[in-house]
Amino acid sequence: MDLLLLKKLLLSLIAATTAAVVISKLRRRRLNLPPGPFTLPIFGSWLQVGNKFDHHDFTNFAKKFGDLFLLRMGQRNISVVSSPELAKQVLLTQGIEFGSRSRNIVFDIFTGNGQDMIFTEYGDHWRKMRRIVTVPFFTNKVVQHYRADWEVEAAGVVEDVRRNAAAATEGVVLRRRLELMVYNNVYKIMFDKKFESEEDPLFVKLKSVNAERSRLGQNLGYNFGDFIPILRPFLRGYLKICKEVTTRRLNLFKDTFLQERKNLASTKGVVNNINGLKCGVDHFLDAQHNGEINEDNVLYIVENMNIAAIETTIWALEWGIAELINHPKIQDKVRAEIDAVLGPKQVSEADTLKLPYLQAVIKETLRYRMVVPCLLPHMNIDQAKLGGYDIPPESRVFVNAWWLANNPAHWKKPEEFRPERFLEEESKVETTGNDLKYVPFGVGRRSCPGIVIAMPVLGITLGRLVQNFELLPPPGQSKIDTAENCGQFANRILKHYTVVMKPRN
Ligand code: HEM
Ligand SMILES: *[C@@H]1O[C@H](CO)[C@@H](O)[C@H](O)[C@H]1NC(C)=O
Repeated sequence: MDLLLLKKLLLSLIAATTAAVVISKLRRRRLNLPPGPFTLPIFGSWLQVGNKFDHHDFTNFAKKFGDLFLLRMGQRNISVVSSPELAKQVLLTQGIEFGSRSRNIVFDIFTGNGQDMIFTEYGDHWRKMRRIVTVPFFTNKVVQHYRADWEVEAAGVVEDVRRNAAAATEGVVLRRRLELMVYNNVYKIMFDKKFESEEDPLFVKLKSVNAERSRLGQNLGYNFGDFIPILRPFLRGYLKICKEVTTRRLNLFKDTFLQERKNLASTKGVVNNINGLKCGVDHFLDAQHNGEINEDNVLYIVENMNIAAIETTIWALEWGIAELINHPKIQDKVRAEIDAVLGPKQVSEADTLKLPYLQAVIKETLRYRMVVPCLLPHMNIDQAKLGGYDIPPESRVFVNAWWLANNPAHWKKPEEFRPERFLEEESKVETTGNDLKYVPFGVGRRSCPGIVIAMPVLGITLGRLVQNFELLPPPGQSKIDTAENCGQFANRILKHYTVVMKPRN
């Protein structure tokens, strides 16, 4: 090779590298990054902060560093927002700029790198998926069509508990029966399907793969492999299990539930349920046949709904019932309201709107025990500006919605469980995000579309339970243990508690 050419090549390479380094140094100096904990190269703040942090840790950082701080965890930049004004910027004013989602290495597996709806970037794919899911799930027409089913399911819970004599004495783990109810609510909309009992083998199998997916996803222990790529080999076994569970789960959806629906379509000629209303998968399969989405997308929608629609509702019910047991006066007041407004008539979807105290209890539960306390992670594709700071591209952006709703700067005695606040000083605050200090379902483009289902289901279920039973802690216990179990996105009650349920006459 021509030596002169090589020399020229090397020289220009050195020049280009130097220029790149200088430019990046200059750019960095110009960047005004949000404050945050001390960082080291490669590890960032991981050595001090570790794998396990939740909305309480974010709250402590906010007290130290302010309403916007940057956590540099290995390769991940995590920006956390803690004021209503900045939350408004992220969710509404700059809703497009911050409208993407950040996935971690485990959610990359669960969602096929964002071929789903919930964890996909903001853009055409998300818009299409959200439109396809909205028609069968998230309209007022859907609520009107399915509300009677939700009432029947709640009545089934009441009936089963009444029939079980032990419920009134030693108590029952009510969660198990509520799971069947919530699965039936969602599977009716999605597949026009109902499981007859907790022992139904298909239900048991389905619940078990969903629980595995949830446990694997919520576990904070894998964070190190997400933050620091050189440590990823230590996570190889874990990621392999995540892949296996994903395959097993998607195959179950495909070979059992989707196939059943397709068979029905081919025997009947048309995909329509008895009432002439298509169920969710019929819409998803139509979109597949139109070439809008592919079969994987259909499966990922089903995967998304199995978690987003089911677990969240169960967690909220579990928290709500625990608080009603631990605050017997509040429980009595809910019961008195229902008796006064409805008499012996059982709480229906329409009735929930006539029961302001019950609504206040649900709002207070979602404030005090917010089940998705930092919303789902948002992301900016491009570099962005927030509160005068520069946010590096592809930052994971959390809105600490729990702290917004529990900060004494915005709320009177937030550490008290007091539903009355939503009838008194906070009577204008809705669950829909009309006030940025209270966004249990988020607000804006990526907000929870399931709110239209979740609120009536919580109202019908909690209403009927209190209407039909006195809910008490198990024998020998004066309170339900409300220790928390915080995961990647969820705040759940740690122990699935037992409830004594004394039937009313
Ligand atoms: C108490 C019950 C529920 C709570 C507290 C809740 C809360 C949330 C929150 C905080 C988000 C993220 C908002 C954001 O990142 O800005 C979300 C997203 C979502 N939720 Fe819910 N949710 C509940 C029930 C449901 C139900 C019943 C469904 C479906 C029937 C559902 C479907 C979804 C979907 C599809 C998304 C993703 C939206 C998107 O990325 O575009 N959720 N939910
Ligand atoms: C995180 O932010 C810093 C500061 O701007 C940037 O140099 C770095 O590349 C970012 N990390 C990633 C993975 O984008």
